[in-house]
Amino acid sequence: MKVQSNLELHEQSDLSKGGDSHAESDSNMKRVVVAAEEKIKEEIANNFDINSSLKAIRIVDVGCSYGTTTILAVQNIIEAIKSKYKLRGLEDQIPEFQVFFNDLQSNDFNTLFKILPPNREYFAAALPGTFYKPLLPKESLHVVHSSNSLNWLSEIPREVQESTSPAWNRGRIHYINARMEVMEAYAAQYAKDWETFLCARAHDVAVGGLMALLVPVVPDEVDLSSETLTGGDFLIFESCLIEMVMAGVINEEQVDSLNLGFYFSSPQELNGIVQKNGLFSIVSMEKLHSLHSSSVPLEKRTLILKAGLEGIFERHFASDEVVDEIFYRFSKKVVVSSIHLHPENNKMLVLFLLLKRKP
Ligand SMILES: C[S@@+](CC[C@H](N)C(=O)[O-])C[C@H]1O[C@@H](n2cnc3c(N)ncnc32)[C@H](O)[C@@H]1O
Repeated sequence: MKVQSNLELHEQSDLSKGGDSHAESDSNMKRVVVAAEEKIKEEIANNFDINSSLKAIRIVDVGCSYGTTTILAVQNIIEAIKSKYKLRGLEDQIPEFQVFFNDLQSNDFNTLFKILPPNREYFAAALPGTFYKPLLPKESLHVVHSSNSLNWLSEIPREVQESTSPAWNRGRIHYINARMEVMEAYAAQYAKDWETFLCARAHDVAVGGLMALLVPVVPDEVDLSSETLTGGDFLIFESCLIEMVMAGVINEEQVDSLNLGFYFSSPQELNGIVQKNGLFSIVSMEKLHSLHSSSVPLEKRTLILKAGLEGIFERHFASDEVVDEIFYRFSKKVVVSSIHLHPENNKMLVLFLLLKRKP
């Protein structure tokens, strides 16, 4: 059996079809960057090392997509660094800024370039390719940013796709409510991906350089299926697909072979992964609570989910009619789902991590 990598799936998805769904998803994601704004500014200003020999400060936003969120994130970092120079009375020594926008090659960089602020204070460039590999020459980066991207696995764990494996995820599309072996396979893939990510960034980032990462996580004791919006969404999609099997629209094997490549660790789990890697010190690790109560109108939920999942479904089912039906069924169910009717019960958090490249 050919095991399709998650990256391939994302690469082949046509995100530009998103239209309104992309705009809704962007404004939903932006809430995370807005909630972290003060924290990021404070932490970067406190921990960025001013070096008089620096001629240019290089920043990358990994997994940037093509919306306004990445522009805001980059602006916040630049403001924080400039404020540090100003505070030290070094205003006239502020280096030039070079900003790299990284995402998969399929990302709509042209749309992103069109919305870059005309009066921006930085040189902008696209950096296409996976963030699981080095992106720039050795030690040439000073700040890395990422929001809402580091829970995207590089590939679907092989075991969950193999019918002979105890972790075969038959009849399910995610590890939510699945057997323990499935969950363990996802967790192992996530740990491996983070290790790869940290090693790739250790190549790119100069000693003393910073990484400001915003990662969706869940507290240990949380039941993903009933206490998180995302868990609720995935289960609704699963039930839509099972109904479509019963209606003869798709077949059982198409559900068996579909697995969504997202993982949500606990803060402790992520802490352990970063410590074990050892290439970056953890300067700060904090849960962002201000997102808890905020929710988006329920009728927009389908559009938001479409931005991330439509391409994956299109690739998997190779039929626009099937994909339309999945989202139609989803839109009917989501408005009566208990977790979505009470988004204040959502226990998913965003973890803010500030890491510093060790010597
Ligand atoms: C949910 S979006 C977040 C976009 C943006 N950072 C934000 O907060 O609005 C996740 C982005 O990560 C990108 N992505 C996923 N895996 C990636 C990888 N291995 N390398 C580069 N980008 C990746 C996706 O293409 C997508 O644009």
